[in-house]
Amino acid sequence: MIRRTALDDGRIRWRAGRLAGPGILLGATLIAIATTFTACALDPGFRSDSSVFAPKDPPAFDTPLPIPPLADSEVVDGVRVFSLTAGEGQSEFVDGVTTPTWGFNGDFLGPTLRAQRGEKVAVKVTNELDETTTVHWHGMHLPAAMDGGPHQPIEAGGTWRPQWRIDQPAATLWYHPHPHGATEEHVMRGLAGMFILDDERSGASGLPSQYGVDDIPLIVQDKRLDSEGEFDLDSEGNEIGLLGDMVLVNGVWGAALDVTTELVRLRILNGSSARTYDFGLDDGRDFALVGTDGGLLEQPVSTDHVRLSPGERAEIVVAMAPGTETMLRSLPPDLGQVAAPFAFGANDEFDVLLLRAADTLQPSPPLPARFTEIERYTEADADNTRTFEVQDREINGLRMDMNRIDEVMQVDSTELWSITNRDLFPHNWHVHDVQFQVLDIDGAPPPAELNGWKDTIYLEPRREYRIMMRFEDYVDDENPYMIHCHLLLHEDEGLMSQFVVSEDRPNRNVEQGDSVGGHEH
Ligand code: C2O
Ligand code: CU
Repeated sequence: MIRRTALDDGRIRWRAGRLAGPGILLGATLIAIATTFTACALDPGFRSDSSVFAPKDPPAFDTPLPIPPLADSEVVDGVRVFSLTAGEGQSEFVDGVTTPTWGFNGDFLGPTLRAQRGEKVAVKVTNELDETTTVHWHGMHLPAAMDGGPHQPIEAGGTWRPQWRIDQPAATLWYHPHPHGATEEHVMRGLAGMFILDDERSGASGLPSQYGVDDIPLIVQDKRLDSEGEFDLDSEGNEIGLLGDMVLVNGVWGAALDVTTELVRLRILNGSSARTYDFGLDDGRDFALVGTDGGLLEQPVSTDHVRLSPGERAEIVVAMAPGTETMLRSLPPDLGQVAAPFAFGANDEFDVLLLRAADTLQPSPPLPARFTEIERYTEADADNTRTFEVQDREINGLRMDMNRIDEVMQVDSTELWSITNRDLFPHNWHVHDVQFQVLDIDGAPPPAELNGWKDTIYLEPRREYRIMMRFEDYVDDENPYMIHCHLLLHEDEGLMSQFVVSEDRPNRNVEQGDSVGGHEH
């Protein structure tokens, strides 16, 4: 049910609780609508067209956009070695206000790691925090023991040195902590960075590719400060977690990018805890969507908006005319049939980053018509099928248990999964180790923006998403990979399960409500 609580300061908080059974859908929606009006009547300051923490406009969009530095690396015995140190620092997001922050190799966020397909890489991670953390390589295909999930803790003062070979197409990946139960806090405090992969095709793609010049990483995160200037990490009872009222790009609220080329490529990462964005340009014009989570699309897709839920990435190319400005905005995202759209940010619309073109622009080569080929999986390729029902903080009725393996994938097999969000509030779905393809949504082919490689997808309530993926290597019966909702509060509260890749036959989970445990260890 929808519960409303007045906070001490008179603000209203919202909680769309667990709603069981489809019959309740209409009722819940009516309650939500009715409650919106009641709230307006009760609290004159409440904006019915936006959430309680709808983003405010920054004082001005005039701070030059900082570009995370490319991480240094050293090649030792054929391995490219990076170093990341997680530690505390401080930042100034609002003039004159000091905010304690965490960062890798600095005060906030981390450098961009970059490597080429086929290279062996290692990362020497040092934890200078006062507590255990981990570093997970989101979107990376790698052995489970190197994955940096909850089973690879790095204690305070400790180090960890994972090593693997880059074996996947060029893509915009990222890294962030994944300690079970504390991921939201660690990411919100500032531990996140990009990991860009290149390959021969991407090098020859003709896409803008000068890092920091016409190829720009954008880490987008909403934050909220308390009266002391510290991060407010309390989600105020919001079912989906923390929605901030300040939207930072690469750590700056109100940033402007000086564009010097006719085409500029933006690698957008939604590094937020709960907020889903719908990125577009303020003049409503089209841009080219060229890549999604796991790499380039086969061809550019012309569109005027792209929705990104937490953890998802999109690469877009924007054409600029000399001497003009355009604002990258977030439009009200379509979250599907959620019970309380205003509470989940569905009505929020705000500016994100000003693009300012110089009076003379360097010519850019025209956008190529084709980037790559993606071999499509078909239903007939599936060796095994699984069904996942997401509800509240559970997958198929179970919360995360570090000591339980939920699913066993057989190596060298293709899987078809059906995933449904049974709640009336947002969830999404992230799979470690592999990139997947969306086969269909409620039986219909996916839209163009979901037609490439994905590792995270938004789950609109009550719709069936069927995805396909292959497990080809890295057999390990002991170390699991994770599947989870990337709304970090949900993940922390247990909306996560574990799988291993094994030589064994797969377990099957089609009997709903049954224990899905493969084997205990
Ligand atoms: Cu971005 Cu399991 O994580
Ligand atoms: Cu969720």
